[in-house]
Amino acid sequence: MQGIKIAVLISGGGTNLQSLIDAVEEGSIKGSIALVISDRKGAFGLTRAENHGIQAMLLDKKTYGGIEERDAALLQILQEQKIDLIVLAGYLAIVPQRIIAKYENRMINIHPSLIPSFCGSGYYGEKVHQEALNRGVKVTGATVHFVNEETDGGPIILQETVTIDFDDDLKDIQTKVLEIEHKILPQAVRLFAEGRLKVIGNRVKIL
Ligand code: GRF
Repeated sequence: MQGIKIAVLISGGGTNLQSLIDAVEEGSIKGSIALVISDRKGAFGLTRAENHGIQAMLLDKKTYGGIEERDAALLQILQEQKIDLIVLAGYLAIVPQRIIAKYENRMINIHPSLIPSFCGSGYYGEKVHQEALNRGVKVTGATVHFVNEETDGGPIILQETVTIDFDDDLKDIQTKVLEIEHKILPQAVRLFAEGRLKVIGNRVKIL
């Protein structure tokens, strides 16, 4: 299929990756997932990719002899494959500044809260939802944003909320948020692929 070439970077189960695979297979995204890269051995997302005939690669620091070397290999692969869009879908490694700069407004991330709440350095995984629970917020949600030099600080593309009910525990919140992640991530990629995202300062206009 013609359209943009997407690379998805993961570290874990890859349910967000799956939502993208499904959207591409359904034809709702004008593009293809050219490769899936994990920094963690045994990440189930790699199996998901293989099951759908997508090139899956493990890029861990052990194989490459360090973080610097791994990141150099990452950049080389992205450039060789002429990737148009990088999607961070639960990628827990830090993306170096030189890659972020090369892919300005071409790299997006999904975060499981309403940025700027419960985000930034150290806010990943269950901690995000635990903090929302501790603070007693009545709504939380998910955010898709472009990646810039500030952790979770780039221009916001889409956000959607979920309600936190009094009896919800951490798992309930995680489940609710994940459900909307699976909706807004493919939606954001679809808009990108259609050339409908215009970054103006730190805001995104949807054309
Ligand atoms: C998601 O909650 C995502 O927002 C966060 O990491 C989690 C990844 O889940 N960045 P999965 O691997 O896509 O299932």
